[in-house]
Amino acid sequence: MSSVLYEVKGPVAVLTVNRPEALNALNTSVISDLAQAVAQAQSDENVYVLVITGSGKAFVAGADISQMKDFSPAEAKAFADYANGVFLGIENMSKPVIAAVNGYALGGGCELAMACDIRIAGTKAKFGQPEVGLGITPGFGGTQRLPRIVGSSKAKEMIFTAQTINAEEALRIGLVSKVVPDDLLMSTALDMANVIANNAQVAVRQSKEAINKGMQCDIITGLAYEAQAFALCFSTEDQSDAMTAFVNKTKVEKFKNK
Ligand code: COA
Repeated sequence: MSSVLYEVKGPVAVLTVNRPEALNALNTSVISDLAQAVAQAQSDENVYVLVITGSGKAFVAGADISQMKDFSPAEAKAFADYANGVFLGIENMSKPVIAAVNGYALGGGCELAMACDIRIAGTKAKFGQPEVGLGITPGFGGTQRLPRIVGSSKAKEMIFTAQTINAEEALRIGLVSKVVPDDLLMSTALDMANVIANNAQVAVRQSKEAINKGMQCDIITGLAYEAQAFALCFSTEDQSDAMTAFVNKTKVEKFKNK
């Protein structure tokens, strides 16, 4: 699994796309390694949060242009379907995923970051969907997730102009939730991951599912999902322990996550 490094630090797994000689460009083999590492994080019951980052000066500089250059339409469709399946797997995994964007997040890289739940950028990070400058549309979710995150006007501006934006602009438009100095990026992402890991995981995961489902439907249906998630939490020991502790003016030190 050399094109993706996978390391577990306590309750947090860190997945590093590791093809720095090509700025971590996503070819079929990198996407397959990514899928394996994500599956490992999902199945390891001791991992509560996943952080995704890149080696070297890029997060991911896009899908691999050398691989795509001679694609037929059918091959392009298969490539997009494959990557979309993997990115949907990230978006829908039960555990929270933080993108620690350390550099170029272009094309498939911006799309990978957008499949994550939370995006934190280092000051050197750059975001963009340069595809129309290469004669193609975004293919790994850019036309769908970018407008949902930043609104259709800004998404269309970014996609139609193919221009890159810096981390501050990404923060201003809500594409990332935090910008930190580059040397503090990983520690900030890990700190945030550990804060999340210290909360009740059933509740964290139910919240993620309710938000994701609610973003795709009308508010009445979304509120019904939320009520279901809320109710389910009342079957957990964590809810009972935490609320009992609160009324007794104490605190749960460590959730049982059940
Ligand atoms: N696909 C394949 N290879 C890529 C790549 C991609 N998306 N992005 C970068 N690389 C490769 C370069 O071809 C180069 O390989 P080489 O050393 O064998 O020539 C290597 O990564 C380093 O990239 P380089 O362009 O020399 O770095 P730079 O610092 O001058 O420029 C970028 C950085 C990100 C501005 C530039 O690499 C770039 O524009 N990449 C393509 C971005 C893109 O359009 N992505 C969307 C694809 S749909």
